Amino acid sequence: MTKTMARKVFLVGFMGCGKSSVGRRLAATLKWDFVDTDKEIERLTGKSVAEIFATQGEERFRELEWQTVEAVISSERDTVVALGGGTPCRDGAMERLSETGRTVYLKSSPARLVARMSESGRARRPKIAGMNDAQLAAYIEKTLPEREKYYNKANFVVDCDALGDAGLADRLASIMRNI
Ligand code: S3P
Repeated sequence: MTKTMARKVFLVGFMGCGKSSVGRRLAATLKWDFVDTDKEIERLTGKSVAEIFATQGEERFRELEWQTVEAVISSERDTVVALGGGTPCRDGAMERLSETGRTVYLKSSPARLVARMSESGRARRPKIAGMNDAQLAAYIEKTLPEREKYYNKANFVVDCDALGDAGLADRLASIMRNI
């Protein structure tokens, strides 16, 4: 009997764009599994993302991130995957994801990203911990164009500014049902 490849959807985009909340809703609508790679790393290591960055460094975190992605790729369950903002930002990453599933860029304006990230949301993200609104806006303006080189390789680019998380999840569910 031939093995059917499980379906995967990878959500990519900048910190705060809504990958986790949209992904969880999308998975519930499609009745697929949901994996948030940051949470999965925290579960497997017993450490927070901030602790891993502080004690083992970003390089080690990036290794753990890709080990987690590869484990999801090999799983035989249909899965919606919310990736970390930096996960797809290296050569070959988007290609690897698109080989095994559909990729979706949740595109968001810098203003929306700043507004969505509370103080505690910033604190648990080592790249932006302690930044005020102006510092965060400057960081996003600088970093987003570099990251969009990767994000824009996604199979689908969805503009998040116009739709709420529930609307986005519905929109993505209808895209996924029609492919
Ligand atoms: C990161 C994004 C975070 C997390 C880590 C690094 C980044 O994930 O993986 O703090 O480099 O953009 P979210 O995009 O889910 O916040």
